[in-house]
Amino acid sequence: MDKYSLSTANFTPPSVYADREKSIRLVRELLYAKYGESPKAFVHTYGCQGNVSDSEKIKGLLREMGYEFVSSPENADFVLFNTCAVREHAEDRVFGNVGALKPIKEKRRDMIIALCGCMMQQEHIAEKIKKSYPYVNIVFGTFAISRLPQMMYKCLSAGKRVFDVKEEKGAIDESLPVERDRGAKVWLPIMYGCDNFCSYCIVPYVRGRERSRTPENILNEAKELIAGGAKDITLLGQNVNSYGKNLDGNVNFASVLRMINALPGDFLIRFMTSHPKDCTYELLDAMAECGKVAKHLHLPVQSGNNRILGEMNRRYTREQYLDLIHYAKSKMPDLSITSDIIVGFPGETYSEFLDTVSLVKEVEYTSLFTFIYSKRKGTKAAEMDDPVPYEEKSKRFRELCAVQEEIAGRRTALMVGKTYRVLTEPNEKEGILTGRTQGNISIEFSGDDNLIGKFVNVKITKALTWILYGELC
Ligand code: 5AD
Ligand code: SF4
Repeated sequence: MDKYSLSTANFTPPSVYADREKSIRLVRELLYAKYGESPKAFVHTYGCQGNVSDSEKIKGLLREMGYEFVSSPENADFVLFNTCAVREHAEDRVFGNVGALKPIKEKRRDMIIALCGCMMQQEHIAEKIKKSYPYVNIVFGTFAISRLPQMMYKCLSAGKRVFDVKEEKGAIDESLPVERDRGAKVWLPIMYGCDNFCSYCIVPYVRGRERSRTPENILNEAKELIAGGAKDITLLGQNVNSYGKNLDGNVNFASVLRMINALPGDFLIRFMTSHPKDCTYELLDAMAECGKVAKHLHLPVQSGNNRILGEMNRRYTREQYLDLIHYAKSKMPDLSITSDIIVGFPGETYSEFLDTVSLVKEVEYTSLFTFIYSKRKGTKAAEMDDPVPYEEKSKRFRELCAVQEEIAGRRTALMVGKTYRVLTEPNEKEGILTGRTQGNISIEFSGDDNLIGKFVNVKITKALTWILYGELC
C-alpha cells in the first residue's frame, strides 16, 4: 500500500457506480462502520455564486451520505475545495491551500481530499494534480457533481484515486438535494453554461454550453424557497439574459422575472449576471414594472473602447451599452448600476483605457468589480500580443479605482437622510445588524437579533464611500 492509499473496505463491482442512490446507501454504511458517529466534512468554495450554488448541492449529497459539516479542515474526515478558474490568482490560492493540507493528511492518513469545480475541468490542471499532488483522492469537474456518491464509494471501498473530468452534454439533473446555509437569502440557478466565448474568458470551456432550466422547475423551486422563508432570491446564470434560448416555447428572462414576481409573498428578486448584448428594452421594462425585482442592474461592460470590445468578442459597442443604460435610468430613476471591468486586456493602449474611464464617469456606477487581465490557457486572448508591462496595468487599475471611489463617495453622501427598506442580516459586532440596499451597499444599524431575516426600514445617518450607517425607523 503506498503512502497515501486509504484503508479500504470490501470492493463491490463497478455496476454499483451507475446507481447514485445505491452508492449513497453503501457510502453511509462504510462511513458508519469506519467512524461510528457522523463523519465530518469541510467544504470550501472559491469564486462566483454559481460555485456557491454547486457547493450547496455537493453538501446536500454529503449530508445524504451521512456527513456533518465543520468549519476547518484540521478535524475533518473529508475535505473538498470547489475551485475557480477565472483568474490566475484564484488558481494560485487553490494550489497554496491544497499544499497546506499535506501535513494535515500526513497526520490523518484516512482523510479524503477532493477537488472539484472549474479549475479541475481544465485538462492541464487535472494532470498536474494527478502527478504532483498524490495525496488528493478525488478530482471531478463541473459536469460530475451528481456522481459524487459513486466516486466516494470507489474511493472508500477500493482506496483508489478517482478522476472524473469529462465534459458532458445533456439534461440538467433536477434531482440533487440542496443544503442551503444562507437563511432568508438564497440562490436559485436558472441556467448553466455560457455560449459567448468572450476572448479572455475560460468559463465556456469549463462550464459547457448554455442549458436553461424549465420555467416549471424554476417556479416550483421558487415556491418552495418562499414557503421555507426565503426573502431575497438571486436568480443565477452566467448570462441570464439569454435564458430560454434552448427551450421550446416563447419564454425568455423577462417572462421568468414576471412569473416569479407574480408569486404571492413578501420577497426581493435579484439576478446575475447579465450580458449587454442580450439585454433588451423588454427586460428593462419588466424590471421597472415588477415591484419585487430589486432596482439593481449588474451589467458588465468590461471596456469602454470599441476596438477592445471587438477584440474581447463582446458583440456590442460603447454606444449600444450607453443606450441601454440611458433607457434603464429613464425607466428606473433610482436604479443602482454596477459592472465588471478588465484593465490591461492584451494590446490596450492608455488612450483606449481612458475611454473606459470616461464611460465609468458617464454611467456613474454604484460600485465596480475591477480586474487586471489574467491570461487563461486555451482562450483566444491568450494567443494575442500583450506588450504592456504589468506595472503599467496596475497603474491604470489604481487610476480607475480612484475614479470610481470618488463617484461612489458622492453617491453614498446623497443617501444620507433617506430611508431604505432592507432585509436584516447578522453582523459580527454585538448589538449591530446589517442590511443591504437594493444596489447592494451595506448599511449598519443597531437592533435586536430577532429582526434577522425580516424586512425593516432604516434611515441613513452617515455615509462612507462603501458603507452606510443608519437607524431603525
Ligand atoms: N482576466 C481578468 N478578468 C476576467 N474576468 C473573466 N475572465 C477574466 C480574465 N481572463 C472577469 C470579467 C467577468 C468577471 C466575472 O471576471 O470581468 O465579468
Ligand atoms: Fe465569460 Fe463572457 Fe460567458 Fe461572462 S459572458 S462567462 S465573461 S464568456
